[in-house]
Amino acid sequence: MLIDTHCHLFESDYENVDSIVKNMLGIMIASGVDLKSNKEMLMLSDKYSNVFVTLGIHPEYATNNVDLTFIENNIKNAKVVGIGEIGLDYHYDTNNKNEQKNLFIKQIELANKYQLPVVIHSRDACQDTLDILKSHLQTKAIMHCYSYSLEMAKEFLKLGIYFGIGGVLTFKNGQKLKKVVEEIPLDRLVLETDSPYLTPEPFRGKQNVPNNVELVAKKIAEIKNISYEEVVKVTEENAKYIFDI
Ligand code: NI
Repeated sequence: MLIDTHCHLFESDYENVDSIVKNMLGIMIASGVDLKSNKEMLMLSDKYSNVFVTLGIHPEYATNNVDLTFIENNIKNAKVVGIGEIGLDYHYDTNNKNEQKNLFIKQIELANKYQLPVVIHSRDACQDTLDILKSHLQTKAIMHCYSYSLEMAKEFLKLGIYFGIGGVLTFKNGQKLKKVVEEIPLDRLVLETDSPYLTPEPFRGKQNVPNNVELVAKKIAEIKNISYEEVVKVTEENAKYIFDI
């Protein structure tokens, strides 16, 4: 079974979220990024048995007074399977590094407290992400849409972290990620789309949907020179183990 371990199924992005969900035969892990989308994804997971949810505040919304009450109040809901997406993003804004780090650590500690996996967003912040995970992480974790080097991947691997692989793998300029996928064992990889973003080839430029994890799985099979069925089987086992579903 195909599992999209990371997607955003927000009504503000899609004309018809229900039809997108109904088109996906496998499982979807929908991630919130702020209070509004956390609530929305939780409601969606209520409605569909194959939609699970991770709750979290994205680093884009980091301030010193982010309220995590909603997340903690709903953390024991059976459909909540993790904390995310959380992390560090220095791509556009480096003025709030401390706020981002504090929020990231607070949410990792919440995950530790309830023994839930974390889904990590990290952009242009590799070393800080690694340092924080080294000193705080006590649960399973996925580096979602992994974008750093193979060398750094080996450092994350030492911490037992999994790698979320998405559409970038199919891009012409995805050489760095291809190397990572070649070298990192299949039992450390999971599939994702990050829908509605990062649509794989040959649909690049169109809106992404969870169904497209199939294209990512096919590309992994090609790169690792193994069967598509094996990629689907092992990534399914990995995702089910990580999220305990
Ligand atoms: Ni995302």
